[in-house]
Amino acid sequence: MITNMYQENILDHYKHPRNFGDLPNAKFHAHAANPLCGDELDFFLEFNTDDKISNVKFNGRGCTITIASASMLSEKLRGMSRSDIEIFSNEDAIKLLGVPITPARLKCATLALETVQQAIGHH
Ligand code: FES
Repeated sequence: MITNMYQENILDHYKHPRNFGDLPNAKFHAHAANPLCGDELDFFLEFNTDDKISNVKFNGRGCTITIASASMLSEKLRGMSRSDIEIFSNEDAIKLLGVPITPARLKCATLALETVQQAIGHH
């Protein structure tokens, strides 16, 4: 039952991704891809004078888990500092999805975080 609720939430984020688009003037931008399937994401980040994320957009294409996790992460990022992002772990990204992720889908669940960490220069 609970899993269904999380699955519906994932589908909703996939069908209606939050913060989808570009920020052409964003100083922080990265592109990452999963070479195994060709899925790819771009993240654009803007920071305010307090060094907290004030605006975030992403675009790309990918499987349900990739797009849903990018959408969920984009909602979570606003207000975060660079160091908050650096310590955000793959496990934290998986927790956002709320469902167990098999090793085969790990890259799907963490591609968004990888892209964001690349954008701030932390790999
Ligand atoms: Fe490509 Fe999920 S199948 S990242």
